[in-house]
Amino acid sequence: MGLDLAIDLGTSRTRIYLRNKGKLIDEPSVVTLDNETDSIIAVGEDAYKMLGRTSSRYSVIFPLSGGVISDLALVEAMISYFLRNVVSSRIGMPKAVACVPGEITDVEKRAVVNVISCAGIRRVCLLEEPVAAAIGAGIDISSPHGAFVVDIGAGTTDMAVISLSGIAVSRSVKQAGNVMDDEIIKYVKQRYNLLIGKRMAEEAKINIGCVIPGVVSGKYRIKGRNLVTGMPAWADIDAREMSEPLGEVAAAILDQIEDVLEETPPELIGDIHSDGIILTGGGAQLAGFDKLISRKTKLKVRIAENPSDCVITGCGEAIPYIDSRKKNQSGINPIMERY
Ligand SMILES: Nc1ncnc2c1ncn2[C@@H]1O[C@H](COP(=O)(O)OP(=O)(O)OP(=O)(O)O)[C@@H](O)[C@H]1O
Ligand SMILES: [Mg+2]
Repeated sequence: MGLDLAIDLGTSRTRIYLRNKGKLIDEPSVVTLDNETDSIIAVGEDAYKMLGRTSSRYSVIFPLSGGVISDLALVEAMISYFLRNVVSSRIGMPKAVACVPGEITDVEKRAVVNVISCAGIRRVCLLEEPVAAAIGAGIDISSPHGAFVVDIGAGTTDMAVISLSGIAVSRSVKQAGNVMDDEIIKYVKQRYNLLIGKRMAEEAKINIGCVIPGVVSGKYRIKGRNLVTGMPAWADIDAREMSEPLGEVAAAILDQIEDVLEETPPELIGDIHSDGIILTGGGAQLAGFDKLISRKTKLKVRIAENPSDCVITGCGEAIPYIDSRKKNQSGINPIMERY
């Protein structure tokens, strides 16, 4: 029993939660491959340190993209590696709850189930990401009361209105943290003739990123290569500029939030009007995003406590329901797909 676990296979980070123990793994979803021997030389944090710093012999690969598995073999190797660190023996054959973005295909869901099964898990249940995020944010999802959760990850922004343990209206879009980083790279290239890497772009976003000019102040030194001279170069980018590359991604997410609100049944809209919107996921911390959403929707917006951990915590809290076939009872009883 104690071995049962929850897995959040995120585009940027993989998190594993062990029943009764809490979150034990939180590492980048990255694998470094030796191209000559086709063998894996590093996984997780160790592999991430090599990003942008390897010779042509090695490739640093994110085997998930846009919230779905893009390289089955590498994800399988990555999960097996992480699991070896938390589950010492396969005796007992644990069961797992894994979360998946809304609106993925059956083939993509099957791929998640298969890689987790191959790592020695007997039974896998899939839980949709916004439902997990809502549980992790402390919402009683089983009540007949609508809650609007927006999980802004790296590969997808998943949003849903949840009531009676299920999803009333939802959207999953690929506008999320990774696209924000790409937009920063494009902006710096055009504005400063400077080519920067993904890590540098992400660091700038985390340090001075904002979607409303003025909510963050200060400058951040970005380093890269001058596109004209080909030489190493740097620029001090001002926080006010960041709303330019990040604003468009934020606007695309906002469009989807407005669509969900338009499609939400009137009774549930009433609930959302009084309770507001809850933001989860690493991207929820982007400065000014909560204010921007609140300004546009005229609703209260709250960033969940530890937003990056809401999904894994929610999945972890759903572990006791793996074997339960009852739905919509009192207490958390999320609807999961069982395999
Ligand atoms: N302070 C911050 N400001 C802005 N963005 C942030 C901040 N901290 C983390 N992020 C971004 O949050 C994203 C990671 O969030 P999270 O861990 O929820 O994603 P994930 O679960 O790996 O991805 P997904 O759910 O899309 O598969 C990254 O793009 C990261 O750059
Ligand atoms: Mg996530």
